[in-house]
Amino acid sequence: MPADFEALLSKLEHRKLERLEKDSETYKIMASVFDSSTLLTLYHLINRGVFDVFYGAVSTGKEANIFCALDRQGNYVAVKIYRIATSDFKNMHRYLASDPRFRRVPKERRDVIYTWTSREFKNLQRAHEAGVPVPRPIDCEKNVLAMEFLGEEGVPYPRMKDTPPRSPKRVFKTLFDATKSLYQDAQLIHSDLSEYNVLLTPDPVLIDFSMGTDRKNPMGDKLLMRDLENLVRYFRKLGSKTPDPAELFAKIKES
Ligand SMILES: Nc1ncnc2c1ncn2[C@@H]1O[C@H](COP(=O)(O)OP(=O)(O)O)[C@@H](O)[C@H]1O
Ligand SMILES: [Mg+2]
Repeated sequence: MPADFEALLSKLEHRKLERLEKDSETYKIMASVFDSSTLLTLYHLINRGVFDVFYGAVSTGKEANIFCALDRQGNYVAVKIYRIATSDFKNMHRYLASDPRFRRVPKERRDVIYTWTSREFKNLQRAHEAGVPVPRPIDCEKNVLAMEFLGEEGVPYPRMKDTPPRSPKRVFKTLFDATKSLYQDAQLIHSDLSEYNVLLTPDPVLIDFSMGTDRKNPMGDKLLMRDLENLVRYFRKLGSKTPDPAELFAKIKES
């Protein structure tokens, strides 16, 4: 661990992480995720008042860690941090290059990951402005994205994967309407829609816009179709009658 990292961590810990025990799981995850540049970014966000105190680790994914933090008013904030060292930035570069909003994608690992994070933030902004049920985006800098925390007392609402909805018909309709509004109003395709990326509040909310792309993406139709196939597969498995993906696709494309 570089000395400057240790110094920063102890400073940050002293001022803002005083509630964390040194041997807690959260502390260990933080120490493994936060390089010195990420710590500086967190400093900036703390100084801008985006959040104030880290509360706990929520999820460790393939590319990013999600933490729960508290702002000065005591509201919970979700903080998604892309790991610089272990993210598959070559894959990210490929996906970014097919999004018409990002014609010139940087090549360097760090810059690719920053662009990736900002694309996810922009996707959330566009979706939120269009009234699609998504976590409200709050701020983004470099590899750190802050958004509304969907949960209670620092515990996220369940994923649809873990807790099947009580009224599948209604939830399916809401998700279909959300996908249509995302396409028609926000001009976006989620591109990773599945029961893993829906939280039930109990109304469904779409999360994880990391793969979200502009609908003008040359692969757009394929990605939209795959999202709809995933939805239909999940709800049919629950025993719900749903139209065929091709029918839903046609309904979404008609403006
Ligand atoms: N805004 C949020 N509020 C509360 N929990 C969240 C939020 N965003 C993500 N999570 C939690 O973190 C998990 C992973 O988030 P996700 O964005 O899907 O990341 P990944 O890229 O690792 O799949 C989710 O399943 C959920 O439990
Ligand atoms: Mg996910």
